[in-house]
Amino acid sequence: MAMAMVCLSDFEAYAKKYLPKIAWDFFAAGADDCSTRDENILAYKRIHFRPRMLRDVSMMDIRTKLLGTEISFPVGIAPTGFHQLAWPDGEKSTARGTLLTYSTCTLEEISAAAPGSLRWFQLYIHRNRAVSQQLVQQAEALGFQGLVLTADLPYTGKRRDDVRNGFRLPPHMQLKNLEGAFEVCKMNDRSEYGLPPNSLDPSVTWNDIYWLRSLTHLPIIIKGILTKEDAELAVSHGVQGIIVSNHGGRQLDGGPATIDALVEVVEAVQGRVEVYLDGGIRKGSDVLKALALGAKCVFIGRPALWGLAYKVSRLIGHKDESDNFICYHLNWKQYMVLIQQFHSGVTNSSEVHVELDAADV
Ligand SMILES: Cc1cc2nc3c(=O)[nH]c(=O)nc-3n(C[C@H](O)[C@H](O)[C@H](O)COP(=O)(O)O)c2cc1C
Repeated sequence: MAMAMVCLSDFEAYAKKYLPKIAWDFFAAGADDCSTRDENILAYKRIHFRPRMLRDVSMMDIRTKLLGTEISFPVGIAPTGFHQLAWPDGEKSTARGTLLTYSTCTLEEISAAAPGSLRWFQLYIHRNRAVSQQLVQQAEALGFQGLVLTADLPYTGKRRDDVRNGFRLPPHMQLKNLEGAFEVCKMNDRSEYGLPPNSLDPSVTWNDIYWLRSLTHLPIIIKGILTKEDAELAVSHGVQGIIVSNHGGRQLDGGPATIDALVEVVEAVQGRVEVYLDGGIRKGSDVLKALALGAKCVFIGRPALWGLAYKVSRLIGHKDESDNFICYHLNWKQYMVLIQQFHSGVTNSSEVHVELDAADV
């Protein structure tokens, strides 16, 4: 009998069983010992609710706004490269959320697949600045509504299984948005992810936010912030949003779990810009904890890839059904009921106590 899929972990088990090992290892990978990747998940288990009873939960409203645009519930899809490793349609099937430089479909293809979705474009800055400039301007022209600058990848983290497997993009897959941008970009070269070695610019600094600002009117969201100091710098450099993220533990091993870093970032920002979070979100209760601690919205990375691997692309490709898919498998609505019913606070190991108010969600 087919296995009943009742939570995101079931999709993880399915993906692990059926994806080619090299693709599974690439999706699952964390840097070095994978401590930060694993901590992202474990940290939620140390946070507990303070449940309250007898609230009227007959009505609920789980919509929220991201930089002024309404979304039906506060969960989006994080940028994760190389979707065609999981399903031939690649990013066209996951076009709710943030899309990326390292995509195996073009920006035009993705836009056409998800015309009504809120879409942000995720950027890595390349040494060849003309390439980045062209991508930013193309994304704006295609109607993307935000620019996400990923700040935590000056170099790629050491993901041991990828090294052991000699991970390369299969020859039929290309980094479509970068096609032709580099002289040496053949899939049979020695480069790690289909790009020539050293193509990302490790000299990027906060001043480059001003450079990006000169290229586009899109709101700039910075992804990969983990400290109050950087949160302050992000605000003072005029970004509109911060994604507290450690790249799913794929970059620096030994940094904090994102849910633990969220508190200091939220405190530093004091509502001046929106703060979001990704990393380790696997259940509705995780979403609720992140919202309770100050995130406006969360993003899921690997679970979207597991969904693709389950061949739900037809579901995911359709905006409403995609929302239903994520909502159902996060058990999200049930947790929204809990918010209202319990008007919960949450406590974490350091006794952080945050009263939740459904009206603020
Ligand atoms: C396979 C994979 C590829 C990723 N590629 C990118 C990328 O190209 N750009 C980026 O900013 N983040 C990338 N990320 C990081 C995600 O955006 C996100 O921060 C992380 O996956 C969230 O953690 P989670 O997988 O536990 O939900 C990638 C993550 C994975 C798992």
